[in-house]
Amino acid sequence: MHSATLQVNSTVGDILRSIRNVHSPIALVTGASTGIGKGFAQKLAADGYNLILVAKTGEGKLLDKVSGELEEKHKVSVTSFTADFSTPQGVDKVTSIICTLPDLHILVNNAGFGEPGIFHRKDIRTLTDILMVNVVAATRIAHAAIPVMLSGINKGCDAGTYKTRGIINLSSLAVFTLYTPNIVYRSTKVFLKGFSDSLAFELRNTGIRVQVLCPGLTRTDMYTKLGYDEGHPIYDKYKFMTPAQVAERSIDYLKRNKVMCIPGFRNKLLAFILSNIPRRLFYAFYDRFMKGMGKVVKWEKGD
Ligand SMILES: NC(=O)c1ccc[n+]([C@@H]2O[C@H](COP(=O)([O-])OP(=O)(O)OC[C@H]3O[C@@H](n4cnc5c(N)ncnc54)[C@H](OP(=O)(O)O)[C@@H]3O)[C@@H](O)[C@H]2O)c1
Repeated sequence: MHSATLQVNSTVGDILRSIRNVHSPIALVTGASTGIGKGFAQKLAADGYNLILVAKTGEGKLLDKVSGELEEKHKVSVTSFTADFSTPQGVDKVTSIICTLPDLHILVNNAGFGEPGIFHRKDIRTLTDILMVNVVAATRIAHAAIPVMLSGINKGCDAGTYKTRGIINLSSLAVFTLYTPNIVYRSTKVFLKGFSDSLAFELRNTGIRVQVLCPGLTRTDMYTKLGYDEGHPIYDKYKFMTPAQVAERSIDYLKRNKVMCIPGFRNKLLAFILSNIPRRLFYAFYDRFMKGMGKVVKWEKGD
């Protein structure tokens, strides 16, 4: 077993030295320090994958903790390091590491964030950071990963438990609605759905499966960061899934080669209704729905 958690300022060279001993099957999860990414890291470690985990900050501390726990519990090797995907250099760091891997079985493009508020009032730097992290980084990382996965297939490497390679892109249930007061975030998730649908088709005969994962409300730090701490009424009013449930369903769908994964029956029903509701009806119901929602959430500071 091999373990290495690298510091914030680790160079690509440091990381490469540390992953030299990481063997197949390998899974790489972005945004793995908390929330859904951590749920994936736990699930994949339990399934015997050696992990490469990436997150943005925390000076390695959160990643340290996650990595240590997984190694101890599941006896897999875990390499983790930080990279800020809102910068081209942060993404370069991950893609250059992927290119040196002997093989890659699973990629979970999970890192992402959004910030609610009225589009034209938001800081443009925040909005471009959302585009960079949710769209540019995910696209570049998939672009780097596919040749590595294909080369593993060509070398006849064992594909592990799932007998295939897979790319899971984190979209959202928000793609089925016409509007959420988080326009750029929702639009990035629409991109990821379209990207995954097409990529799944393009790769259909290669042995690489592609999934677009569309979770609904999931109890993670995303809401803590927005100010919804423990005890906030949002958690009583709406049903949240856990990251572990989301990761479990996603991997189950990957095994069954399903491109679209909407975890949870309620979310599936909501996606169906939202996809089929006429535009005019959506507009008519939207304000009513938001009035109810407005009792428990604030979209912007000062609203
Ligand atoms: N929670 C939900 O209800 C929900 C619903 C639908 C879709 N999703 C999607 O699921 C994914 C995970 O969300 P979550 O709820 O688990 O969020 P979370 O708990 O806030 O975790 C987000 C993860 O992404 C990383 N990250 C954020 N900005 C980054 C950057 N600039 N560079 C590199 N990594 C960065 C974070 O790293 P640090 O911790 O180091 O900052 C963290 O590991 C996101 O793509 C989100 O859009 C979530």
